[in-house]
Amino acid sequence: MYSDFKTISTYYDTLYVNDSEYAPEAAKVKELLTKHGVPSQADLLILACGTGGHIPYFKDDYHVSGLDLSEDMLALAIKKFPDLRFYLGNLIDFELEADFDAMICLYGSIGFVQTVDNLRASMKRIASHLRPDGLVLLTPWSTVEDFQELIVVDSADNPDFKIARMENVRLKEPNIVEVTFHHLLGENNEVTYHRQSMEIGLFSRQEYLSAMTDAGLKVVEEYTGAKVRGGAYIGKRIVS
Ligand SMILES: C[S@@+](CC[C@H](N)C(=O)[O-])C[C@H]1O[C@@H](n2cnc3c(N)ncnc32)[C@H](O)[C@@H]1O
Repeated sequence: MYSDFKTISTYYDTLYVNDSEYAPEAAKVKELLTKHGVPSQADLLILACGTGGHIPYFKDDYHVSGLDLSEDMLALAIKKFPDLRFYLGNLIDFELEADFDAMICLYGSIGFVQTVDNLRASMKRIASHLRPDGLVLLTPWSTVEDFQELIVVDSADNPDFKIARMENVRLKEPNIVEVTFHHLLGENNEVTYHRQSMEIGLFSRQEYLSAMTDAGLKVVEEYTGAKVRGGAYIGKRIVS
């Protein structure tokens, strides 16, 4: 089941994209890319780029492109960054004519591939689009080892619309987390209720690492600090 971002896309930036989280996260990701040899102005593909929330922080330092499965999320990214290249594609089977020096997949978006087989297929697609010595940095959505059920509560108060949200994050099956969004959206003098469930794969640390190494990537670092949400696995395509 593909988790559809159509409804959420219209207010995704208001709810989820904010400078206080995205700026330090992007700064740390850039530091890690540099540390592992990705030069300035390298070709960087942002996987599952969504509405392009991270792009402002990368576009001056790299040649940025984005890939996402949702036409609605991509349409918003394209509107914001008309000069950049975007690809409509699925992590599991994307096939592009271009290769890249680096790829990043942030905010746990890899979890949306849902199964270990899909995770492994995605890592193979990523590796096959990396140039020699190219780097991939991805953040797990959460791992089997550190997952905790929770209810998230938040709100946004904009001049044009107001949103109150609760998200129920619970383990549905041993390796599937169900996130149910309950959103109250107030606009044009009306309040509407939106409910949507998405399923996200919960993989173990070892499943991430094996998917990378079996795809031909050498794991060069596991970042566990708090600056990148979820931490990061970093793999390099070594060609001997
Ligand atoms: C939670 S959003 C995160 C967007 C962005 N990475 C950010 O941090 O703002 C997850 C994104 O993953 C995309 N996505 C989900 N499954 C995907 C897949 N199989 N291939 C590519 N993108 C996918 C969704 O369309 C959505 O834009």
